Amino acid sequence: MTINDSVLQSGEKILFALRELYLQQGYTPYRMSKFEEYDLYARNKDFLVSDQVITFTDVNGRLMALKPDVTLSIIKNSKDQPGELQKLFYNENVYRVSKGANGFREIMQTGLECIGRVDTENIGDVIAIAVKSLCTVSQDCVLELSNLSMLEEAAGRLGLPEEAKPALYKAVSEKNLHGVRELCAGAEHETVEKFCRLVSVRGGIAEAREELRTLADDGAEDFFSVLSLLERSEVADRILIDFSVVNDTNYYNGIVFKGFIKGLPNAVLTGGQYDRLMRRMQRKSGAIGFAVYLDALGRLPDAPDSGGETRILNVALPKGRLGEQVYAMFEKAGFPCPSIRENSRKLIFENAGCGVRYFWVKPSDVAIYVERGAADIGVAGKDILLEYEPEVYELLDLDVGKCCMAVAAKKDFRDDAGQTLRVATKFSNIAGKYYRSKGRDIDIIHLNGSIELAPILGLSDVIVDIVETGTTLRENNLAVVEKIMPISARLICNKAAYKFKTEAIDSIVRGISAQTEGKK
Ligand code: PRP
Repeated sequence: MTINDSVLQSGEKILFALRELYLQQGYTPYRMSKFEEYDLYARNKDFLVSDQVITFTDVNGRLMALKPDVTLSIIKNSKDQPGELQKLFYNENVYRVSKGANGFREIMQTGLECIGRVDTENIGDVIAIAVKSLCTVSQDCVLELSNLSMLEEAAGRLGLPEEAKPALYKAVSEKNLHGVRELCAGAEHETVEKFCRLVSVRGGIAEAREELRTLADDGAEDFFSVLSLLERSEVADRILIDFSVVNDTNYYNGIVFKGFIKGLPNAVLTGGQYDRLMRRMQRKSGAIGFAVYLDALGRLPDAPDSGGETRILNVALPKGRLGEQVYAMFEKAGFPCPSIRENSRKLIFENAGCGVRYFWVKPSDVAIYVERGAADIGVAGKDILLEYEPEVYELLDLDVGKCCMAVAAKKDFRDDAGQTLRVATKFSNIAGKYYRSKGRDIDIIHLNGSIELAPILGLSDVIVDIVETGTTLRENNLAVVEKIMPISARLICNKAAYKFKTEAIDSIVRGISAQTEGKK
């Protein structure tokens, strides 16, 4: 029987093309049940994207789960034969709570796992297959690759306490060098700058290797061997070394990577070496694998972009005084758009000659536009970034829009540790984290504005809010009780857009940092 491929939807075509690719490369299909014992996830909760799992009790009274992940089940069912190599691929639906879904989502995933005696050649092969997977979908793709062992070694030299590392790695993954420097404030200057150089490494294999040679320890030879293999492979020109790629260090070690396709706002492929996960599951073998998110690929526009959109940089500016101040910085950086200064109700302004299009967006929405790729870059307050934790790069601290996140209350407020503290705020996530770190029991009252009213009317004991000039607090007889953190405006960037509009974005970053340098 032959199938006329016009009956297939684009996602299905991709699925079959990937299946063909993996079979050709000697991988065996691996079929699993949709169900798994819940205990597996309870024991490895922090490996999962979310610890929420759909559970049910089966006929034997065992607590079961609808699979939120495939890798854990494959490892569980794999035999520990370090001398051999298991090469498997799968295509399964997983069930996860996903950001923005307001519930569980069925996510179609295909992936490949190579478990056992994994040597540099196998690692090179898996990475090359990952690139070929992207090329199956579109030739406009890039695989970004990093090495967690090198990153962790360099981080170790900073002498930071273990508990500071997650924040450090998060800043690295956001290309947030100002954040890295802040976190390393107590460390030796030269070591910090060397670390910053390492996490800024970005380029083709040959170029990046030169730079990495000057930064690496002797132990990185295996990594350089993999790079040499990849350099000689047919997919070399689609690989970029980028040390801001960081996957969970509790599970991954060694090489990690992420794949992007032009026109899609997020990574569509993610993977790496996960020997650490194997150890945690009492396995001696090595492992490397990746997953491809097929649902995301189904959203690829049918007609390829003829190049017009690629040349225009979409910029989300926060409406209001801060936005005007920030626009002036973009203008000075060489991206003017005079029509934006005309008094009108228009929201979109374009200067095709300069390759830029600005949108006026509600300040708290900028991060959403950028995270979802409707804007390539934008300017958002650090308060919004901390509150919503969008998956974006934070390229610059613009040193404007400066204010402070603080706890405030009526002047006569005395905290009674015997009572749950009632906290009114627009920033529930920031407030929750802050009080959790202090071990204080609180009741959060989420409000959308005029927060200062809450303690005055007895709705809350304190507020967590932005204080800029302090006028609102003063005029309402409130006072700052504790300062949580300084806030300022940040230049943020969609992760995928950075891969395909690098030149324009770098040019803006250079133009704007020239204006902020020396101000601090
Ligand atoms: C913000 C913040 C404070 C005020 C602080 O409110 O929530 O109310 O600014 O500024 P100040 O220290 O200079 O007085 P915003 O103007 O965003 O309005 P909102 O109350 O609707 O949130």
